[in-house]
Amino acid sequence: MALVSPSLLAADFLHLDRDIDMINRSEADWLHLDVMDGSFVPNISFGFPVLEAVAKACKKPLDVHYMIEHPERYIAQTAKLGAMMMNVHYEACVHLHRTIQEIHQAGMKAGVTLNPATPISVLEDIINDVDMVLLMSVNPGFGGQKFIENTIDKVKRLRQLITEKGSHALIEVDGGVQGQTAPRLVEAGVDVLVSGSYVFGAADPEGIIKSLRSL
Ligand code: DX5
Ligand code: ZN
Repeated sequence: MALVSPSLLAADFLHLDRDIDMINRSEADWLHLDVMDGSFVPNISFGFPVLEAVAKACKKPLDVHYMIEHPERYIAQTAKLGAMMMNVHYEACVHLHRTIQEIHQAGMKAGVTLNPATPISVLEDIINDVDMVLLMSVNPGFGGQKFIENTIDKVKRLRQLITEKGSHALIEVDGGVQGQTAPRLVEAGVDVLVSGSYVFGAADPEGIIKSLRSL
């Protein structure tokens, strides 16, 4: 069984209340929120005014994914939202250990995210301090992209590292997660599936969430 974190990036922004109601009714475990700054990634999504409105309406734990430079600037504000998990990119944090500590001190779980070209080996000295590793299976910045095949092997190697080190970190994968890729990811060792366009583009999104959860 996998946990499912639908990505709000693929929702209808004119009808967020309707889409969040759907998430609340569904079996989704978390809600994934993609924050972009137009600098770390070549796109801008949404910021705190939207996050605050979503946090008020959403009954599921919030899994916030920062695709921004210097995410440490927003730890306090993210904790104030009541977020459960704060994911920061390895590539955006010079002092990753300090940032992870500060996320924990603020009362949240801490996730470290790797871009597709960043090797698993960079996690060796931080894997016992994080609650989750988020592997990007597309280049971050946009929904609806094609899954990068190398991710399957990367998940297996990460699973091995987690076992070797006795870490409690969950493995989450984000990008191109749909009917073909999800079962292979779960088999490779993924705990949490993020899915945007596959869920929100479906005629029966609640049914899709249920099917992903049952993998
Ligand atoms: C991409 C975002 C993803 C995105 C996934 O930069 O981090 O969360 O919404 O979208 P799909 O599932 O459509 O690939
Ligand atoms: Zn994401």
